[in-house]
Amino acid sequence: MSLETKFKQLTELEAAALEGGGKSRLAKQNAKGKLTARQRIDLLLDEGSFEEIGKFVTHRATDFGLDKEKYLGDGVVTGAGKVNGRTVFVFSQDFTVFGGSLSETYAEKICKIMDMALKVGAPVVGLNDSGGARIQEGVVSLAGYADIFYRNTLASGVVPQISAIMGPCAGGAVYSPAITDFIFMVEDTSYMFVTGPNVVKTVTHEDVSFEDLGGASAHATKSGVTHFTATNDVECIENVKRLLSYLPQNCEELPPRYPSDRPANQPVFELDAIIPSASHQPYDMKDVIALTLDAGSFMEVHAAFAENIVVGFGRLDGRVVGVVANQPAVLAGVLDIKSSIKAARFVRFCDAFNIPLLTFVDVPGFLPGTDQEWNGVIMHGAKLLYAFAEATVPRVTVITRKAYGGAYDVMNSKHIGADFNFAWPTAEIAVMGAAGAAEIIFKNEIAQAQDPKAKLDEKIAEYTERFANPYQAAARGFVDAVIFPSQTRAKLAAAFELLENKALSRPKRKHGNIPL
Ligand code: HXC
Repeated sequence: MSLETKFKQLTELEAAALEGGGKSRLAKQNAKGKLTARQRIDLLLDEGSFEEIGKFVTHRATDFGLDKEKYLGDGVVTGAGKVNGRTVFVFSQDFTVFGGSLSETYAEKICKIMDMALKVGAPVVGLNDSGGARIQEGVVSLAGYADIFYRNTLASGVVPQISAIMGPCAGGAVYSPAITDFIFMVEDTSYMFVTGPNVVKTVTHEDVSFEDLGGASAHATKSGVTHFTATNDVECIENVKRLLSYLPQNCEELPPRYPSDRPANQPVFELDAIIPSASHQPYDMKDVIALTLDAGSFMEVHAAFAENIVVGFGRLDGRVVGVVANQPAVLAGVLDIKSSIKAARFVRFCDAFNIPLLTFVDVPGFLPGTDQEWNGVIMHGAKLLYAFAEATVPRVTVITRKAYGGAYDVMNSKHIGADFNFAWPTAEIAVMGAAGAAEIIFKNEIAQAQDPKAKLDEKIAEYTERFANPYQAAARGFVDAVIFPSQTRAKLAAAFELLENKALSRPKRKHGNIPL
């Protein structure tokens, strides 16, 4: 073969690989409102930065006539490139080849880039769009999945792992994304479930659509499986890139710092007017977060799930922080099973990747009731307690209003290792609300009074005067400083700067035993 022919052969193979399952299947993919595997990679990575690995890999199966049907790349595009100048490894499943189903060699391609990402110390982004195990390959495909799950677990806490679900994701295949740190789903074109509507109908006699069972909205609001949703592929990939901007490359690096939009020491007077005059009135904690952080920098995680707690990434004076905040505008900011699980996982992610924690507290306690107790609020609430207590990153807390009972301890209190604890003058740090407390401790006095209602009001006022403030806690050093709300941004910026070199090590152990 002449040199010219050899070069021509390579050029032809390159062109064939770009065609995936063929032009008509690629067109069909676009017609469904979905981008192709390569279009998604082009959007994700900086122009010209993609280094593809395994472009000419094909499957090895021979059963069911597969030896006569081969596609270069075998249904997954893998490699590495840059997102805003920073390296990421990526795999993008190609639905046009056997429905993006996973073969032995396809799994090997994914494992190869995951192994490389671990060696290099860079994030892995998976763009998922697959009919699951390649049915013709049987157990070999299942083995391939397990090889990926194993690597997902080994990489957990070492490099960030992000999954975007941009098509089907069913059966055991859902467990790879589930082990990764963050899941994105696209509305109307993606779904995730362990068993689909047909099996559900057979087993439980429920009639449910794909969308209702495992669509983006179901997982964003009901199960909490997905952290983010997007209306289309383009928005989804933009959001993946935004998320990466808050993350370090690996567990040994710090997240990138960007210039701040305004000086951190300027007072923010709007904060002084945030807390309503009556203690039971709601306000939106997201306003507090937005006014405190650098403008527009807050990226909320799990926005539609367990909305009584708010978590997300932001920047304060250019430094990345992970925010955990009770939301008094939803269920009065109470802690319950879902909010505890949501916040605990977020806290653990931040701790694993050197992201300092900023906690805003306005919590009336844990939600009472049989539903909560029988579903294990003790165990799930303990997750959040455990997650905060084990975190060694810089930790700063601001109590804006209520900090009652066990929830006071749990919400990044001084006692479980927070570094700086601030309280606003509106803070109420007590075992419980004044009304409940007065009813219990002055029960007899109130019952015997000529006017029990007046007596109760008097006792509530007495308890409020004595305990519903930050000064008892400040007197004991449980709160480091009582600050004007308008000073919050400046105080926090100074605290995180002071804590920049915080180093804390724990006694040697294999691993702790968080109440899962
Ligand atoms: C091989 C598959 C495939 C699969 C789809 N295809 N899924 N080939 N193995 N799992 C092929 C189809 O034959 C078709 O080939 C092409 O992909 C597109 O599929 P369509 O059915 O035409 O597309 P659509 O109507 O959009 O439906 C997509 C789908 C459906 C909902 C994903 O294809 C489907 O239900 N597939 C089977 C899903 C499944 O049961 N997977 C196994 C689950 S068990 P042509 O040649 O026509 O283009 C599993 C276990 C994992 O995954 C366990 C891990 C531990």
